[in-house]
Formats: sequence, structure tokens, C-alpha cells
Amino acid sequence: MSTGPGTNASGSTPVGTLFGVGVGPGDPELLTLKALRIIRAAAVICAPQSETRPDSYALGIIREYLDADNQEVLRLTFPVDDPEGAAGVWRSGADTLAQRLYGGQDVAFITEGDPMLFSTFIYMLEAMTAEHPSIPVEIIPGVSSVMAAAASSKVPLATHGQRLAVLPTVYGIDDLSEAIASYDTIVLMKVNRELLGALENLDGLGLAGKSVFVRRVSTPSEKVVSDVKQLTQEDVDYFSLLIVKRDG
Ligand SMILES: C[S@@+](CC[C@H](N)C(=O)[O-])C[C@H]1O[C@@H](n2cnc3c(N)ncnc32)[C@H](O)[C@@H]1O
Repeated sequence: MSTGPGTNASGSTPVGTLFGVGVGPGDPELLTLKALRIIRAAAVICAPQSETRPDSYALGIIREYLDADNQEVLRLTFPVDDPEGAAGVWRSGADTLAQRLYGGQDVAFITEGDPMLFSTFIYMLEAMTAEHPSIPVEIIPGVSSVMAAAASSKVPLATHGQRLAVLPTVYGIDDLSEAIASYDTIVLMKVNRELLGALENLDGLGLAGKSVFVRRVSTPSEKVVSDVKQLTQEDVDYFSLLIVKRDG
């Protein structure tokens, strides 16, 4: 279904805007002023959450700014490790949001960190653009966990001519060695079992003293660990990343 830009099928009611809003890494004070304004004004807040983590982290960040009586909170639950199932969720989610948008309501699709970096908003953007190309979309950048982790750990990401890579995950030591050969700084996101295995080999790569682990940055449960050999499974959760520096 498609209508002219900015109007609904009858051409009279202005169509709402879909906002992709980055809500930062955890501290509600790390929201931008623009994100806060849009979140407060939107009739509908859409909060994505995975089947494996039924609480929306992004929603937890902004909850204190919502008006429970006047804003609809729509949760969109997507499967993990099922790309086809997830694609269906984004398509039907785009249809659900489009109903509100064609009715003139603005929708804020919230996402932790920045919406254009490893974010579910990218899937929604693709689905909305394909299914409802006339819907206006605006994207509000957020403070990424990458930037916040560098600030908390006081480890610079790059300076002068240095090269920085952000990797979604690593699958063992070979993957890590390859990246370290090409970049001065590597940020490893989605810390997982394989990554913890790779960490045990950082000594072998001469990087053990040059890496910092950051969990739940900017929240009360933030943990910054410079001696990554001391890390245990209990220290690590999904909201963890690692900054690895080649030259210390
Ligand atoms: C789907 S990505 C989302 C990235 C997000 N768009 C951003 O800009 O930070 C999820 C990964 O981001 C990292 N992450 C997100 N929030 C974090 C936080 N508060 N502290 C540390 N890492 C975080 C973790 O590596 C997590 O596995």
C-alpha cells in the first residue's frame, strides 16, 4: 500500500513520521535533547526485543520519560537464529506501525546506542521502505556503546592515521588474529563463549595488557576490566564489549 508523500490514502490527514531513535548505552542522561523531545511527543513508542531477552533494554532507558496514560508502547518480539522468521516479524511490524502512521500518529522506534550501528532499526527501516515507501522516516543518532565504552575506560579508539574496526563478534583466535593484523584498534561487540576462548589467547598475540572489557557501560552495573585474563562467564553478558589495541 502506498500513498503520496506525507498524506494518507484519502490525501487529507498528514501521515505521521517514523523516527528511529538512538537512546544511548544505558544512562538516561546520555539521550540527546532531540531524542528526548521526540520520545515525549510520539503517540506510539515501538520497542524491539528478542525472544531470548524479553525485557527491552532500550525501553528501560527511557521509561522514566514516558506518559503511560497517553502513549502506546508496542513491543515487537523477534526470533534469533531464524532470519526468515525475523524478516516476517519486521514486515508485519512495519504494517502494524504503518496503521498508526497513516492515521497521523508519530512512531518512535527506540534502539539502544545508535540506530545505524548493528541495530534492529535497520531491519525496520528496510521493511518500512519496501512495504510503505511513502512513510516519512527520520533517524536520530544516539551515543553508541562503542563511544561510551571508550569514555568509561579512557581508552582512545583512534588517533592520527590509526585504523579502527568494529566487529559484531569473533569466532575464535583466527578471526581475531586476522583483524589484529589489519587494524590498530578493534572493538569486539556481542561478547560470547567463542570470544572468551579467544581472550585466553590474547597473551599469545601479545595483547593481554592492551585490551579492556566493558559491560553495561554507563549503568549502575557497569564493569570495566583491564586484566581480561581475570574475566569469568559471570562477568560477561550480552551488553558487553571489548576494546583491543595493537600498540597499547
Ligand atoms: C545489537 S548491538 C547494538 C549496538 C548499538 N546500536 C550501539 O550503537 O551501541 C548489541 C551489542 O552492543 C554492545 N552494547 C550495547 N549496549 C552496551 C552497553 N551498555 N555496554 C557495553 N556494550 C554494549 C554489546 O556488544 C552488544 O552485544
